[in-house]
Amino acid sequence: MQTKTYNTTPYDDQKPGTSGLRKKVKVFQQPRYLENFVQSIFNSLDDFQGKTLVLGGDGRYFNRQAIQIIIKMAAANGFGELIIGQGGLLSTPAASNIIRKYQAFGGIVLSASHNPGGPDEDFGIKYNVSNGGPAPEKFTDALYLNTKTISSYQIAEIDDVDLDSVGELSIDHLKIRIIDSVADYAELMAKIFDFELIKQSIAAGLINLRFDAMHAITGPYAKHILEDVLGAETGSVFNAVPLEDFGGGHPDPNMAHAHELTKIMFADNAPTFGAASDGDGDRNMIMGANIFVTPSDSLAIMAANARSIPAYAKGISGVARSMPTSQAVDRVAAALNLPCYETPTGWKFFGNLLDADKITLCGEESFGSGSNHVREKDGLWAVLFWLNLIARKRQPVADIVHEHWQKYGRDIYCRHDYEAVDLDIANDIVDHLRRQLSRLPGKSWGDYIVKYADEFSYTDPVDNSVSANQGIRIGFSNGSRIVFRLSGTGTVGATLRIYIEKYERDITQLDQDSGQALAELVEIAELLCEVKKRTGRTEPDVIT
Ligand code: G1P
Ligand code: ZN
Repeated sequence: MQTKTYNTTPYDDQKPGTSGLRKKVKVFQQPRYLENFVQSIFNSLDDFQGKTLVLGGDGRYFNRQAIQIIIKMAAANGFGELIIGQGGLLSTPAASNIIRKYQAFGGIVLSASHNPGGPDEDFGIKYNVSNGGPAPEKFTDALYLNTKTISSYQIAEIDDVDLDSVGELSIDHLKIRIIDSVADYAELMAKIFDFELIKQSIAAGLINLRFDAMHAITGPYAKHILEDVLGAETGSVFNAVPLEDFGGGHPDPNMAHAHELTKIMFADNAPTFGAASDGDGDRNMIMGANIFVTPSDSLAIMAANARSIPAYAKGISGVARSMPTSQAVDRVAAALNLPCYETPTGWKFFGNLLDADKITLCGEESFGSGSNHVREKDGLWAVLFWLNLIARKRQPVADIVHEHWQKYGRDIYCRHDYEAVDLDIANDIVDHLRRQLSRLPGKSWGDYIVKYADEFSYTDPVDNSVSANQGIRIGFSNGSRIVFRLSGTGTVGATLRIYIEKYERDITQLDQDSGQALAELVEIAELLCEVKKRTGRTEPDVIT
């Protein structure tokens, strides 16, 4: 195989964010931009000669071109084997599973998750390590340094590989395997859940489901598992064909973006169960007839009922949630006497805890939950967890949620996002918040008395690494919280996220409308951060 070394010069904007490098497609299409980043990944790795790399993406625009380039660069850099999803497709959790199952050295996942796709939209790339999880900060920091000094990259002069036919080929020392994108993942799910029971419940009409794949990667996975294997009616999975631009939509499974599903689930005679997943298949939204389950509640309910699921029947070792996620799961952990960890935002912080078996389940308010079965969050896994739970409990979603609230109280929750805020204004807002922290404890607005105000810093209990500046927390003496942080995944300006949470223990008040219940805290949040005043905006872009 002929390989060629090309000279290059660094780009200064290749710092990986919460989940890899995400930029507009046009940025990635600049000469040598992708090549620089991929070579910098390889330059940050040791001892991978002859080893296996997994490759796949969510199918968005530029996925195919990028995969061909990465194949040639991986070949030139000395990998021995490439395992690639058919058509260049692998959902993020499926890629994590393939890395683990075939004991690969690592994997490159091409995705910008829930961000829109298309020539004028977003693309992304991230590196996952041998445990199947996103590379830790230590790696992404070294990678960023390498992007700033890169001077050449290597590429093999080989033909494009046929990505569409499952099979194997060899080019000199390199073996390339194109695998069915769905089969290994479906097999894993069948090991975790009671498929027979779910199948019976669907056949008996106890479960009548709709799944919105949002024209993204979970279409083929959900069609196969929910319809072919579990017997849901044909068409239960809709928007099932992955499209390069997600049909022009925003493939983020929340009520703002999955409006088709939301309409179905809040109609008269709604199905008993509804769910959606995002661009790369790691997020989930859970709904029942006329009810939306917040991701924070979903995590808490999963933790409380884990023993109903075959894979967790012997009990779970502990739980973790990202800092802004509501404290609902903490209450379950306390009641079950389980360790509970609070980590910074981003799935990579769960990896060490899962590897060390300190936790079995974990999740984030941003519609992500998962377990020790892979090292990414997993959208369809969460859907199957709920289906298994409903089949076991023989109860509608609304009853499962209400019973949970009655037992543990309800953490009423919402998140306000202000998107594409001018970077300077956003940084000023955070500085302004920081300057107030020391003066806030003891301050009160009505019933809300500030108990603590700090900037979250995390020390990983496994490797003792410290991640500072992970968001501003304002806690109140009645258990309520307001959290502020800037997004690490946005591609335009800055996104300010405000997370608002109120704890309600009074069982006569559990059914409150969350907008009303949180109105006072929303006002306090504005007094503290002044986002409306400073940007001239009157409301958030997205409320979830
Ligand atoms: C967002 C979510 C975070 C999630 C990440 C990747 O990151 O808030 O929980 O892990 O996407 O899906 P953010 O944009 O807030 O940095
Ligand atoms: Zn995602």
